[in-house]
Parts: sequence; C-alpha cells; structure tokens
Amino acid sequence: MKLANLEYTILSKNGVVQPKKVAFVGSSPMPLTSLIMASHHMKSTHFDNFDIDGAANLMARKIVSFDAEFEKRMKFHTCDIMEVKEKLGEYDCIFLATLVGMSKVEKMKFLGHIRQYMKDGGVLLVRSANGARAFLYPVIEENELMESKVLSIFHPTNDVINSVVLVRKPIF
Ligand SMILES: C[S@@+](CC[C@H](N)C(=O)[O-])C[C@H]1O[C@@H](n2cnc3c(N)ncnc32)[C@H](O)[C@@H]1O
Repeated sequence: MKLANLEYTILSKNGVVQPKKVAFVGSSPMPLTSLIMASHHMKSTHFDNFDIDGAANLMARKIVSFDAEFEKRMKFHTCDIMEVKEKLGEYDCIFLATLVGMSKVEKMKFLGHIRQYMKDGGVLLVRSANGARAFLYPVIEENELMESKVLSIFHPTNDVINSVVLVRKPIF
C-alpha cells in the first residue's frame, strides 16, 4: 500500500492525476496496486491488468468480482506482454511490475517492447531497486531508459523495497 501511494504521489507531481486508461503489466493474483489506485486515487480510470499466468488472473477476477464498480473498471488479460502491441498505444500510463523480467537482459527486452508500442506522450512507471535491494529485484539505471524523458527516479529508504522510475515517451 505504501508503494502504491508513493507511486501516486510521484505520478501526480508529474501531472498524471486522472488518466483515462492505465495498464498494469504483471498484475499478479492480488492486483493490489490497481485496487488502491482505483479506490483511493484514480476514481474514474479504466484499468487493464496483464498477466501471463491464467491462474493468477482467475484469482484476481474473483477478488474484484466482490465489487460491481471495480468489476466494470478493471479488466484482466492473460497474455505475454511481448504479444501485446498496438493495444499498448491506448494507455496514458503503464506500470511495469518488478518481476516482469527476472534478469537485466529480460527486463530490457520488456522495456524496449513497451517503449516501442506505448503512445507518444504516455508515461511508463518502472519498478526497480537500489543498493542491496538489487539482490531481490533487477535494477534499471538512468542511462538504460532508451531515449525516454526521465521524470523521476526515487529510491525509498524506509521499508518500501522498490525504487520507482517514471519516464515519458517524447512526442515527436
Ligand atoms: C510477482 S508479480 C508482481 C507483483 C509485485 N507487486 C511487483 O511489482 O513485482 C509478477 C507477475 O508478473 C507476471 N509476468 C511475468 N512475466 C510476464 C510477461 N511476460 N507478461 C505478462 N505478465 C508477466 C507473473 O505471472 C507474475 O504474476
């Protein structure tokens, strides 16, 4: 919850307040970030949650089905994000979960793919790590962000483990 609230603070400081459509890539069986965003911050936003694991999405749909309003605004898609192309252009904001890409090489592949298909002017929030926390999660460095405009890089020093990297795809 602290991570999601931190992410919203960073997004809103960078002008992303009520995006129309958000994608969460690697939403897991417990789509907590989307739920916190939808309930506390982005109260009219539509969320598309992507996960490669059908069982994860079954569980996530079950959790969301208890609330009719969330169910309308929150959809779950089972696929490898590498297979999602033009659809990525629909989102004002895309979250990339930490463990989509377990190694630096894999993570760079996902970043490059999303960067290619996301809309011009859209923002991408990448969960990363810093220092000893790199034992848990792959680290993304500023110079690896592929011609995107870096809006913010935040390394928490409290019990929030993930760093938060926010970039915008330039409008050409
Ligand atoms: C552990 S969860 C993420 C939760 C955590 N809050 C985070 O930020 O990392 C990572 C999810 O990413 C999904 N995932 C991994 N590779 C993927 C891919 N190529 N496309 C879509 N989802 C993927 C996994 O199935 C898993 O449910």
